[in-house]
Amino acid sequence: MTHVLSAVAWPYANGPRHIGHVAGFGVPSDVFSRYQRMAGNEVLMVSGSDEHGTPILIAADEAGITPQELVDRNHRLIVEDLVGLGVTYDLYTRTTTRNHHAVVQELFLGVWENGYFVEQTTYGAISPSTGRTLPDRYIEGTCPICGADGARGDQCDNCGNQLDPHDLIDPRSKINGETPEFVETQHFFLDLPALAEALTQWLDGREATGLWRPNVIRFSKNILDEIRPRAMTRDIDWGIAVPLDGWRENPTKKLYVWFDAVIGYLSASIEWARRSGDPEAWRSWWNDPEALSYYFMGKDNITFHSQIWPAELLAYAGHGARGGTARELGELNLPTEVVSSEFLTMEGRKFSSSKKVVIYVRDLLARYQPDAFRYFVAAAGPESQDSDFTWAEFVRRTNDELVAGWGNLVNRIANLIAKNFGEIPAAGELTDADRAVLGVTETAFTTVGDLIGRHRQKQAIGEAMRAVGEVNKYVSDHEPWKLKGDDQRERLATILHVAAQCIDDLNLVLSPFLPFSANAVDAAFGGPGGVAPMPRIDEVADLDDASRSYPIITGDYSGVPAWGRRRLEVGRPVAKPTPVFTKLDTAVVEEELERLGS
Ligand code: MF3
Ligand code: ZN
Repeated sequence: MTHVLSAVAWPYANGPRHIGHVAGFGVPSDVFSRYQRMAGNEVLMVSGSDEHGTPILIAADEAGITPQELVDRNHRLIVEDLVGLGVTYDLYTRTTTRNHHAVVQELFLGVWENGYFVEQTTYGAISPSTGRTLPDRYIEGTCPICGADGARGDQCDNCGNQLDPHDLIDPRSKINGETPEFVETQHFFLDLPALAEALTQWLDGREATGLWRPNVIRFSKNILDEIRPRAMTRDIDWGIAVPLDGWRENPTKKLYVWFDAVIGYLSASIEWARRSGDPEAWRSWWNDPEALSYYFMGKDNITFHSQIWPAELLAYAGHGARGGTARELGELNLPTEVVSSEFLTMEGRKFSSSKKVVIYVRDLLARYQPDAFRYFVAAAGPESQDSDFTWAEFVRRTNDELVAGWGNLVNRIANLIAKNFGEIPAAGELTDADRAVLGVTETAFTTVGDLIGRHRQKQAIGEAMRAVGEVNKYVSDHEPWKLKGDDQRERLATILHVAAQCIDDLNLVLSPFLPFSANAVDAAFGGPGGVAPMPRIDEVADLDDASRSYPIITGDYSGVPAWGRRRLEVGRPVAKPTPVFTKLDTAVVEEELERLGS
């Protein structure tokens, strides 16, 4: 049994989630976590809403409400979206908790005491028309390193380098196109060059495992060449205060998102432990070097997880050119794997809420089954290359693969058992063909589990569906519906028993991907229907400020079935089933395209 941390990217609380967001981090991290629990590991899955920073300020301005009101509203919406998808967080919290603020400030102090912050004077951008500071992300221009146009003030998506808005050639405000004014301002910079050697060593060690996706390791190593100090504070009035005299009280200097939200993985683990009744329990995932940690995100976040976050952890522990020691949180584990997805587009275009090229999770869930979407993401999502969501493909995959393949097998067999026996029949003597098909589904545990463990979910679900096809073929070949007479009853019972055992195997194998239908399938074959636990929403008080309360996602995920065959119980009642999956009318495609306005 291993401790496995599933660290899932923190979505900005600037609006509800669209399917592009959750395809990259939500579904893959849940598939992985569900599998790891079934495989017998101790999983801690954490995330939360990223509620500080400029995207929030801008959205609040647009809505004419305070940032706190905005994030209160959006956090709740996001919590509902993620629960609707069945994502089994042990804790999904938010960055505006007292606990998160305290942990971030503790990390800051540790890094500061060890000497890995340098104070520097830089140029901050101001909007001439409003007089307010203009955030890095809202300035664009030409990249000074690669020459690409449309580079953001904080990062060039073309070459991947971190930028300073002042370095951009021909800078302009994304908000209104005006040229920003730059004024001198003081900031704390994380001394990445002093950590470069430790980072390189760590990354080389990670590369040697051969487990990281090649694009992620390549990108992470490239950015090491251009390493320089990164600002960890910002001129902004919404965020976490710098915990030093003279700074703490300054209303317009706050910690930057990369010294805020990334620390959420740790603060959420601590909050989870405090809520669990054992406040030190988080240490098993963070201080024990044997523990494993997997970080799930979209590719625009790689830098922050393979460089900034590890650098912060190394600096806190004093593992850099300046030495130092860890404070009370101790030596904290660096990521085992940074698992980054690529981007999802929609009908060939980039998602854009303003241009209405978008489908929100809540709208999708109001009209379709969550497992149909989860299936699409697993089978055709942006796992290792960009992929496109089209309604035509969604309908095709749902109808031809989910309904016609898996749904049909489940229905056919449940129907035949209901009609002929009313319960799971006992098997007689097995033929070679029976044994062969039982072998296929038993092997699926090994192949599919191994692929999920290595983040090859597309291949994993492909293998599972291939096994579904083989069981369908076994059933068609043996035509159990033709076995009528008394002398054929034992053979009929045997075939149906074998098919039902195969279905139970595949139902477990598919349950990380299709948790909602896994429970329905289990119930259809007389089980209690609890093979895949579901998350719930709790309203809780802030642990350090009883006057504040907020919704979290949590759940009891213990007692999941083990990853392997369980002997089917003879005699379980099986009634005439209702279809587990809904076949979609092809008119859906046109309806949805009309909604999109294309
Ligand atoms: N909210 C940020 C984004 O979506 C950061 C997400 S990951 C975090 O890009 F861990 F850094 F928060
Ligand atoms: Zn560039």
